[in-house]
Amino acid sequence: MDTKHLGINSRLVHAGIVPDAYGSAVPPIYQTSTFAFESAQNGADRFAGAAAGYIYTRLGNPTIAALERAVADLEHGAAGIATSSGMGAVTVIYMALLGQGKHLVSTDSVYGPTRVMVEKHLSRFGVLYDHVDTSDLDQVRRVMRPETTMVFVETPSNPAMRVTDVAAVAEIAHQKGALLVVDNTFASPYLQTPLDLGADIVFHSVTKFINGHADVVGGIIVSKTIEIDRRLRPLMINLGPNMDPHQAFLVHRGLRTLSLRLERAQANAKRVAKWLEEHPKVASVAYVGLPSHPQHALAMRQMKGPGAMISFELKGGLEAGRVLMDNVRLATLAVSLGGVETLIQHPASMTHAGMSRDARLAAGITDGLVRYSVGIEDVEDLIADLGQALDKVKQ
Ligand SMILES: Cc1ncc(COP(=O)(O)O)c(C=O)c1O
Repeated sequence: MDTKHLGINSRLVHAGIVPDAYGSAVPPIYQTSTFAFESAQNGADRFAGAAAGYIYTRLGNPTIAALERAVADLEHGAAGIATSSGMGAVTVIYMALLGQGKHLVSTDSVYGPTRVMVEKHLSRFGVLYDHVDTSDLDQVRRVMRPETTMVFVETPSNPAMRVTDVAAVAEIAHQKGALLVVDNTFASPYLQTPLDLGADIVFHSVTKFINGHADVVGGIIVSKTIEIDRRLRPLMINLGPNMDPHQAFLVHRGLRTLSLRLERAQANAKRVAKWLEEHPKVASVAYVGLPSHPQHALAMRQMKGPGAMISFELKGGLEAGRVLMDNVRLATLAVSLGGVETLIQHPASMTHAGMSRDARLAAGITDGLVRYSVGIEDVEDLIADLGQALDKVKQ
């Protein structure tokens, strides 16, 4: 179905879905590793790109392709590449576009392993990098070099909730001939479409809001142009972090209710963030929907809503945070985010433990920071749960 003229809710439901031989209402799971050729010549033609048709699931599969078309449509891009995980997507982007002597500029508060991937692994192959606070454009300008081929930002960033001006950074990157990549995991295409703001590539850990049910790990990359997609897809195919058809089926099913889930989680998050900000044991709350957030105005300009992720720090620091995390009953103490259930975790000792303490602090990830991914439960229950846990924290 051509969905280009439809609204976002209609596109979430219908984008990417094409009729099959049986009139299936939802994309079926083509759980096959390989596809039969009509003849030896047809096999050769498919390999040569002279005949249409699938070959082998690592190269492409109808269930995976439906999801790729859907997310590419939602992100207003030319093509999508689904991957086995969000980190699979990061690795494909890095390896396809960086190399010996090439320089990356990236957000200092990106998801820990995204940063570790360059600092510990790709640096061994001669990749150069600078991680700076990309919400400060002067810092970005200062580290750009002739060898910079990629600027990579995460906005809002995980877990510091810093917001980068995508349009402004795109201009800086393009002036130097570099591509801009945006990790759109925290916002999802429902709240933010970075390609419209000037980015060249957008990607997601679909593990989070896009799938939304905490039962799949996966990733997806969307390129603005077919030319960029053609630089990325061969790397995915040869490296091998392809998505599996069953994984794609579940993610696509989750995607179709993204707007309903996110609207409700976001409404809950607005209430919880305000409540936390007024609580006497809370030192600070980082939620882009609060007027107290330093980039609130920018976030509201480039996003359609503030989303459902909150980070906060208690006056009692790490020890108080531990008491809180050990005493919540409704929220689950677990990493990950963006599911229907509320999750709470401690970035410094969990998701961002791979970073040095100095790098963490520079990125705004203090020892006492607690991250709260708001789900779709009744907000009164969430507030009551946080309230009883905070009662156990000594002032
Ligand atoms: C912002 C962000 N990007 C990327 C990733 C990596 O995704 P995955 O865990 O699906 O590999 C995560 C995971 O938490 C994330 O939060």
